[in-house]
Amino acid sequence: MCCFVVLVYLEWWFTAPSVVQAPRRDLNLMKALLNYSTTNSAISTATSEKLQRHLWYLSEELVGLTLFDEDVSLAMKRRMLESMKRQVEDEDEETLKRCSRDLATLAVSQLDSFASPKIVRLFEKLYLATDFLEADPSSWGTNRTFRAAQDQLKTLKVVNDHAERGGGGGSSHPGSGSTGP
Ligand SMILES: *[C@@H]1O[C@H](CO)[C@@H](O)[C@H](O)[C@H]1NC(C)=O
Ligand SMILES: *[C@@H]1O[C@H](CO)[C@@H](O)[C@H](O)[C@H]1NC(C)=O
Repeated sequence: MCCFVVLVYLEWWFTAPSVVQAPRRDLNLMKALLNYSTTNSAISTATSEKLQRHLWYLSEELVGLTLFDEDVSLAMKRRMLESMKRQVEDEDEETLKRCSRDLATLAVSQLDSFASPKIVRLFEKLYLATDFLEADPSSWGTNRTFRAAQDQLKTLKVVNDHAERGGGGGSSHPGSGSTGP
């Protein structure tokens, strides 16, 4: 357990949680937990299965926060914009759904594969203007609409625990949550 904490967990626990980084961090933590199977498969399985039940930030809607994550490449953001144009089957489904991919799929998933047209709902709920979505991500840094939205999102805290209570979906205490207290 000590090796696990030092090698995998500490980095995620101690870097300050920012809501726009949450989708990327959750996905990267999941990949690190899965990869830990080469060291200790029991710990890898236990922790990745636990985290799997808490992947709210990889929902089709909240993954949109990634568009404001400065550590995500422009290429990835362009691919996310493409995914936002694709058709979804349950267009009218209003409930926020946690990511439900199996572990093998998560191990090879990239952020853009979670993106969907539902990201627009995130902006609607937060009353954020979306005109910058029409422009290339390379111009967003100087676009006032984008910057205003980014500033507003920076004031939001990561709330895995609250999201789970609100969504009624969590099954247990998020002891292995990626986002810290
Ligand atoms: C996966 O685990 C191995 C062995 O612990 C490590 O050397 C490698 O860097 C890890 N890869 C990733 C992508 O974390
Ligand atoms: C942001 O970008 C969009 C798309 O190019 C543009 O229509 C809008 O005017 C820009 N907003 C600001 C405030 O610069």
